[in-house]
Amino acid sequence: MSFLHIVVLTVHLLTVGVGVCLPLSVILLSRKAFKIQQQGHRAAIWEFCRGLLKQSIIALCFGTLLGFILAGVIWSTEYHQRCHLVMTKIKWAGIEWVFTFVVLIWAHRTWPKNVVSGKSIAGRCVLLLIASLNLLYHFPILFMVIDSIPAGTVQKLSESGDELSRTAFREIASRPELLSRWFHASMALFAVVMAYVAVACIRKANQYEDGADRDSAISICRWASRNVLLLLFGQIAFGIWTVIAMDRVRLGNLMGGRMPPTLLFGLSMILLFVQLQQWTGLTGERVHRLKLVQAVATFITMFVCMVAASVLS
Ligand code: HEM
Ligand code: HEM
Repeated sequence: MSFLHIVVLTVHLLTVGVGVCLPLSVILLSRKAFKIQQQGHRAAIWEFCRGLLKQSIIALCFGTLLGFILAGVIWSTEYHQRCHLVMTKIKWAGIEWVFTFVVLIWAHRTWPKNVVSGKSIAGRCVLLLIASLNLLYHFPILFMVIDSIPAGTVQKLSESGDELSRTAFREIASRPELLSRWFHASMALFAVVMAYVAVACIRKANQYEDGADRDSAISICRWASRNVLLLLFGQIAFGIWTVIAMDRVRLGNLMGGRMPPTLLFGLSMILLFVQLQQWTGLTGERVHRLKLVQAVATFITMFVCMVAASVLS
């Protein structure tokens, strides 16, 4: 069961990561497009953004489906009781999901053919920012709180038929253990998206022999690789915070108490440092397709190891 849990959770995180964070990369890219003077490059980036919005919608739907499958995998009477304690929050999260979905569909359908005025881009970007942050704000913390409600509270509230109060929810959500994990997971999702953009660019660049489309795709690929690198460095700080704030028993398991999570965590640390070198190489003048594939493969392996260490600890 743990194996299935790890696999489905990893794919859930990778896909919702793409679904939720691609609009953030579209914001950064449309800003880039607006600044570029050369018409061909500008139009190529603009068109690329429209494609990313479509992929974001597909990934969000697929990631959500996987979320339901994941719930099925970890379902138990106790998990059921825990979900009932935050039923109102779950309903609100559903409404927020629909809001984000509608904004994404609208943004994709009405994406102008050419770069339009600064004001119109700014309005679109603000809406996309709200749509993305909305899900990053509501979903991860909800599932973390569901896991962290003390067993005694679950029993007491289930017997009385009450829900977890707002204050109690906030108290649990604002514990350093959950806050650090929330930031760490959100940054991991953003790193996933930057790696995804780099791969999408190299695929696009390979479709053209030369010209503005190829040049802009290569330039965005370098930009995305640099962002992955920055996020990985940032994750070192957030990772250390996560370790310091973690529950003592789980930390003990991760630091030698239990062999599988300890080995997986150690492996993910080694892969992190291998990757720093790989992504640094990709920020140079020329982008090698094979090297990008290797860096992404290391990234995904590290991601799986980190999720597995977290689940098994
Ligand atoms: C309706 C759609 C969704 C469903 C049904 C769903 C379901 C789940 C479930 C059941 C878990 C718990 C896994 C566990 O305890 O190991 C989980 C974890 C998680 N989900 Fe989703 N999810 C959904 C949407 C999202 C979205 C949109 C995001 C991103 C913004 C997201 C991010 C996460 C994260 C970061 C975790 C890990 C939390 C932890 O460490 O405990 N989910 N999801
Ligand atoms: C020095 C660097 C890092 C350290 C010390 C670190 C530490 C940790 C720890 C202790 C956990 C377990 C948290 C828990 O279950 O309570 C964790 C989970 C996780 N880490 Fe890292 N991490 C680092 C880098 C990274 C990087 C670079 C990524 C990906 C970009 C990443 C992605 C994840 C993910 C996806 C989880 C699972 C989140 C969850 O289920 O809540 N980590 N990390």
